[in-house]
Amino acid sequence: MSSKIQKDSLNIDLSEPASIPKIGIDRAIEIMRSGRLFRYGEFKNGKSEVASLEREFSQYIGSRYAVATNSCGSAMFIGLKSAGVVPGDKVLVNTFTLAPVPGAISHAGANPVFIESDENCRLDLNDLQHKAKSGAKLLLLSHMRGHIADMDKVQEICKTYEIRLIEDCAHTLGARWNRKASGTFGNAACFSLQTFKHINAGEGGILTTDDDDIAAQAILYAGSYMLYAQNGARPPLEVFERHKRLIPNFSLRMHEVTAAVARPQIDMLEERAKAWKKRYKWLADFLGEIEHVRLPDRDLKEDFIPSSIQFFLDNLSAEAISDILDHCRRRGLDIKWFGNPIPQGFTSTWEDWKYISDNQNLPYTQTMLHSLCDMRIPLTIKKAECRLIAQILNEAITLVESS
Ligand SMILES: Cc1ncc(COP(=O)(O)O)c(C=O)c1O
Repeated sequence: MSSKIQKDSLNIDLSEPASIPKIGIDRAIEIMRSGRLFRYGEFKNGKSEVASLEREFSQYIGSRYAVATNSCGSAMFIGLKSAGVVPGDKVLVNTFTLAPVPGAISHAGANPVFIESDENCRLDLNDLQHKAKSGAKLLLLSHMRGHIADMDKVQEICKTYEIRLIEDCAHTLGARWNRKASGTFGNAACFSLQTFKHINAGEGGILTTDDDDIAAQAILYAGSYMLYAQNGARPPLEVFERHKRLIPNFSLRMHEVTAAVARPQIDMLEERAKAWKKRYKWLADFLGEIEHVRLPDRDLKEDFIPSSIQFFLDNLSAEAISDILDHCRRRGLDIKWFGNPIPQGFTSTWEDWKYISDNQNLPYTQTMLHSLCDMRIPLTIKKAECRLIAQILNEAITLVESS
């Protein structure tokens, strides 16, 4: 019996991150030996790893400028400030997102106005249209777990109501909407290089923009001292003259080692995208055959890079879902659940962000999150393991249903 359980258990780590290429490791060691770990220096004249990353990343995205920071949360914070958000402002944001997103809004002293999510994990455009009249001047649009809303419609609403747009692309590096790169639809975009993202540098963020003033302010906020000329993808120096005495230095810079580890991964994105897409399809096909399991619809215009998979456990009570996931966990399959009444790991929801003072009513998102499950997709997962995942889940559902 015990060997049967062993055989039928999942023996892989779903949280296994993408590994660091040798060239990044070698460069990181070289930098540590040199002791030159800080991106700025009166000696370097813009030759730092971070500056090179800024240049290469902006070329990859197709933006004019890029500003490297210590996290995507920091990039969003300085992005909001550089786009003109001041304390007390309202900022529109999707409800279905991760804690650092409302955290960045709060860091800027602003108040989130949550937009509902539709039943496919995307921003609800009707609710956006409605709340666009709330007086908010900016939308921080989080493409949470890589689900991209109809960007043509988002842009149209933003234009009508004169709302600035910052995209949170923590989960959409390399993704496209209607063949246009995610991160090129608004005034600025923010990317994450945290371990579980498409580029793994441990921690790190990058803000991209085509806007001279947003770029110059973001560089100054990130903490460039008067060495901003060394940034790798920056606006002309005269733009800094408008801002350099007015912008505080928040010291949110990227480390040289972070950039050294990240740079070689830009060239790997295409290969990784293929590997993730293939694995997503295996999982989606197997999971899609199970009763009660529903995968979110994806728009044909959405070219997403699925480093994770989301699915709903429909028509089941919270108690039943909890029992199902417990059974799965006992067989080595750890599925995250956004409907868990007790927030765990990364899956807190807007109901847990009690520092936001007004009590917003978001019934559609609440219903959507009730049954929403989430799983990382390791780049090394095999087809047989995807099949086993579906088998374990299916058996857990059958067990709970029959009890
Ligand atoms: C959707 C989303 N946005 C932003 C962030 C913030 O990224 P970072 O951890 O680099 O601050 C995260 C982090 O996981 C995220 O999931």
